[in-house]
Amino acid sequence: MTVVENRPEPRKANKDYSGLPEASPMGAPLDWAWLRGAKSEWGVRPKPSPRGLTMLDIAVGAYGEVPDHPQHRSMAPRGCDVEGDTPDMGYILNKKTDVWADNTRELYEEAVARQWSATRDIPWGDLQELDDDVEHAMCQLCTLLTEVEMIAADLPAKWMWRMNHDFIEAKMFLCTQIMDEARHAEVFRKRALSNGGGLLLSRSGPTSLLRTIIEAKTYTQATALMHLLGEGFVLDIFRMGELISPSDVEKRMFRMCMQDEARHVAYGTMHLRYAVENDPDVAEEIHEALDHGEMVLTEFGTAPDVSTALAVLLAGGVEHVEDKGFPLALEMTKKQFTSYLARCERAGVSRLERTQIPLDLLGIDIETIKRSAA
Ligand SMILES: [Fe+2]
Ligand SMILES: [Fe+2]
Repeated sequence: MTVVENRPEPRKANKDYSGLPEASPMGAPLDWAWLRGAKSEWGVRPKPSPRGLTMLDIAVGAYGEVPDHPQHRSMAPRGCDVEGDTPDMGYILNKKTDVWADNTRELYEEAVARQWSATRDIPWGDLQELDDDVEHAMCQLCTLLTEVEMIAADLPAKWMWRMNHDFIEAKMFLCTQIMDEARHAEVFRKRALSNGGGLLLSRSGPTSLLRTIIEAKTYTQATALMHLLGEGFVLDIFRMGELISPSDVEKRMFRMCMQDEARHVAYGTMHLRYAVENDPDVAEEIHEALDHGEMVLTEFGTAPDVSTALAVLLAGGVEHVEDKGFPLALEMTKKQFTSYLARCERAGVSRLERTQIPLDLLGIDIETIKRSAA
C-alpha cells in the first residue's frame, strides 16, 4: 500500500495573521484556516518541460503519489487537506488496480495535444464521385463505424462517476476518450452523408456486441471487452485505411482516427497489465469476459455484410471482389486476430491456451503472435 508520509513542514507564514477579524461585519464567523497554514505540501514548484507544464511535471512529492487504497471517497483533490466528515460520493472503484494504468498521464497529455476537428481537418472539398459499388461499400462501413464508435464513449461514462477521485488522471484520460469517440462518430457520419451514398444498413449483430460490452459486470471486464478486444479490432480497420480508402479524403479520416484509437487501446492494455500484476486473482475475471467476448466478436467480424463491404473496398469494386477482395479481407481478419492475441500477451492475460478462435482455420501461427508481442 502506498503511504503518503514525510511531507515537508507547512510553510511558515511570513506575515502576522493574528489580528485578522474572527467575524464578518454582519457578525458571521470567519474561517482563516487555509491562510494560517494547513498541512498541505508547500514549496512545490515543478518546472515546465519543453512542452509546457504537463501532468507528469506536476506529479511531484505527495501530489504524484496515487494511493492503492484511497483514504477518502470524496471529490477532494488528491494531496489537499480533507475534513474528516467529508461526504462519501458512493464510489465503488476504490482500488488503484481497478482503474489505473502506468501510462495515463502521458496518454492524457498526448490526447490533449492531438485533438483534431472533423469539420476542419478533413479535406471534404476534395471528395470525387465514386463508382456506386465503392461509394455504397464505404457508406456501409461508415454506417457500421458510426454505430459502434459511441459505445466507447458510453462505457467510460457509465463507470467514471463510480471511480475514486484520487484516480483523477485516469478519469481525465477517459474524458479525452469520450471526446475522441464523439469525433469518430461525427467523422464517419459526415463521410456517409457527404458523397451521395448516405447511411445504409444496421443489422442486429453489432448491437449484440455493444450490449455485451455495456453490460459487463466489472470495469476491468468492460475494459477487456472494449479496449482490448473491440477497439483493438477497430484500430486494425483504421490501420488498413490506406488499402480500403478510395481517395485521400478517407485516408486522412482513418489516419486521424487511428492515432486516437491507438491511445485507447494503449490505456486498456496497460490497465489490464497493471491490474493483473498487482492482483493476480483478476486474471480469471478477465479471461471469463474474453471467452464470451471473442465468440460475439467473431460472429460480428465475420458477418456477411461487414465482410462484403470490406472486400469491395479492398478490391476497388465488385469486379475483383472474388480474386482480390476476399483474399485480402481474409488477410485482414488474420491480422486483427493476431494483433489481438499479441495484445493479450502484452496485457499479461495470455489467451493462447484458452482461446476458441479457430487459429488453424485462419492460418494464425502462435510463434508470430509471440514475436509481435515481444
Ligand atoms: Fe473510436
Ligand atoms: Fe476508441
